[in-house]
Amino acid sequence: MTRAGSRTLHQLVYASRIRIPWPDQAREVDQIVRASIENNRRADVTGLLLVHDGWFVQALEGPAEAVLSAYGRIRDDARHEDCRVLHAGPGESRSFEDWNMCARHMTPADEAILDTLHMRGAFEPHKLTGKQALRLLKAVRGVQHSTQLRALG
Ligand SMILES: Cc1cc2nc3c(=O)[nH]c(=O)nc-3n(C[C@H](O)[C@H](O)[C@H](O)COP(=O)(O)O)c2cc1C
Repeated sequence: MTRAGSRTLHQLVYASRIRIPWPDQAREVDQIVRASIENNRRADVTGLLLVHDGWFVQALEGPAEAVLSAYGRIRDDARHEDCRVLHAGPGESRSFEDWNMCARHMTPADEAILDTLHMRGAFEPHKLTGKQALRLLKAVRGVQHSTQLRALG
């Protein structure tokens, strides 16, 4: 699949409440990511899924029609509820180009990221502005990259 090329890049970030019983969460998130990688690769969509404190925050980016069609399916998924779009619009370049999808469960060490958003101990992603939501996911991208590099080294 070719990358966006001359087509306009669209970015969408939403937050939702997880509706998966705790014991099944890791397995379900694994399944979500596996299905997402397949679908997103075909549709030229990239992104990142943050899983933290009962919430999903996900970025999707790619051709507008592909992003909106993926989000349409995602929004109807019973594994979460209260989907709220925090940011949507054209982007100049991809921010999550390394992953067709990748889930990051925030570890206690990662939680310093929340300090800049004043959300440590009270994670309320529905209250984030679009800019803040993108900043959060870009910070998560940073820790995910360094974890992958450590795993390779
Ligand atoms: C939090 C969350 C994130 C998801 N992200 C994606 C995604 O990025 N791409 C995707 O195709 N499906 C994603 N899904 C799954 C879709 O809701 C849906 O189950 C899937 O696209 C159906 O694919 P299938 O028709 O190939 O079975 C996500 C679901 C949840 C709950």
